[in-house]
Amino acid sequence: MKQYTTLLTELSNGILLIYINREDKLNALNGAVIGELNEAIDEIYSNDEIKGVIITGKGSKSFVAGADINEFKGLTEEEGKRLAQRGHDVFDKIEICPKPIIAAVNGFALGGGCELAMACHIRIASENAKFGQPEVKLGLIPGYGGTQRLTQLIGKGKALELMMTADIIDAACAEKLGLVNDVVQTVELIDTCKAMLEKILSMSPHAINQVIQSVYAHFKDGIDGFDTEIELFGKCVTTNDFVEGTTAFLEKRKPVFTGK
Ligand code: COA
Repeated sequence: MKQYTTLLTELSNGILLIYINREDKLNALNGAVIGELNEAIDEIYSNDEIKGVIITGKGSKSFVAGADINEFKGLTEEEGKRLAQRGHDVFDKIEICPKPIIAAVNGFALGGGCELAMACHIRIASENAKFGQPEVKLGLIPGYGGTQRLTQLIGKGKALELMMTADIIDAACAEKLGLVNDVVQTVELIDTCKAMLEKILSMSPHAINQVIQSVYAHFKDGIDGFDTEIELFGKCVTTNDFVEGTTAFLEKRKPVFTGK
């Protein structure tokens, strides 16, 4: 693995654990973090040793407390658009990554932090996690995909309420709204994410990727998700994983998948 300065990484048993590492700034996403996150995502795509990923924040207080507000000063319209586009590019790569990515939300997930968590495939929160899109307090709107992904995850009414009131909600409320998959005790957060990833990684890697791409198709303009599902189902039956999975079932043994 490459060494990063704003990220800490640990690779073990195919699971890459990424810590956003700016604890003194509550892990706010400055240009350096976004740049290194982009490099790390490229590494996730290309490194065969990485099978699944957990993204979390360093320290006990914050996942990510938003984009770095210090970098907003004096932006021109073009610079503002570039800043948003950069975040979109990185978060889109996370969303369509062929390998499963879980956000382990260990505290504040505000603004860009909530958006980062929402770009991941699954979100597990610790009991002290807090979520919100408070950009309107700054005269802004969410700019890293939040207006879209929050609406997709919790529906238009509640998404508009959260974005217009700038309310910060706790983990239990986030779970009730469907913003997070599960809430666990803080000390169990990473182990819970690892256990879930291990379960996912015991399935066909090819099929997991096709699930991600097929679900993504639902939200992509100009693409019919049902057609995509038919297409990808057809591809699945041509794979070794399909032969292995069905054969193993009939032979009453555990499958050994290769992702091919
Ligand atoms: N951008 C830049 N710096 C940030 C930040 C952000 N989004 N969020 C927190 N920080 C910094 C603070 O400026 C402070 O730095 P300092 O010690 O050099 O002054 C440090 O992180 C600790 O934050 P602090 O505000 O002292 O902690 P707190 O416990 O009192 O409050 C929050 C925590 C999350 C409620 C508060 O930091 C906050 O409101 N942050 C901004 C959230 C936000 O609006 N995010 C969306 C941005 S688009």
